[in-house]
Amino acid sequence: MSINIAIDGPVASGKGAVTKGLAKKLGFSALDTGAAYRAVTLFLLDNDIDIHDEKRILLTLNKIDLRIFSAQNHDLRVFTQGQDVTPRIRDNKVSLAVPVVAAYIGVREYVNRQIAAVASQGNYIMEGRDIGTVVLPNAQYKFFLTASLEVRAKRRKADLDAKGEYYSLLEVMAQIKERDEQDINRIIAPLKQAPDAIYIDNSNLTLEQTIDTLAKYIKL
Ligand code: DC
Repeated sequence: MSINIAIDGPVASGKGAVTKGLAKKLGFSALDTGAAYRAVTLFLLDNDIDIHDEKRILLTLNKIDLRIFSAQNHDLRVFTQGQDVTPRIRDNKVSLAVPVVAAYIGVREYVNRQIAAVASQGNYIMEGRDIGTVVLPNAQYKFFLTASLEVRAKRRKADLDAKGEYYSLLEVMAQIKERDEQDINRIIAPLKQAPDAIYIDNSNLTLEQTIDTLAKYIKL
């Protein structure tokens, strides 16, 4: 029987890096489900489709040829229409638009179908917002990862600086707060801790320490 691990948490809580690191340690595959929501959002922005036009978005979904691959080294590659869009899905314009797009039920159903196709074989660690609550309610292990707003904003700012996208720390804090509120307050599959998830605040932990903390709970 395959083993599934669900990791949920807010923006810049370290889910991506922890999921990759834990997958390497345990020999699991890793899947960043936010990447699928980001790829859909990037496609809409690239094609000048208004992210508030739910009807048009729903009609557009079946035209998106979305492919997600988890490579051997746990690096994710995302393709739309045969083009590798992996670096572009992390652009800040995508980050700011994606909570609106991820709130549409049609988009969530579309993404969940893509995810189900990828994750039906093998042992997976999946990260997102609704993995423990909706996508994998029967996951053997569930974690809710978080950190203080300031720590998360510093991490996000470092990522943006490295990409040459410059914002002040206060701007990044405001952006994160707004994105979290949109994810928490949406009606369908909002960000929330599953009742049976283990809560981990990694504000004062390094990446390695966070991975070790999660790994201690997992008995294979
Ligand atoms: O983790 P991330 O920042 O790459 O996620 C991008 C967006 O996708 C974020 O606004 C929340 C949304 N998302 C979601 O609604 N459900 C998931 N399982 C994963 C991400």
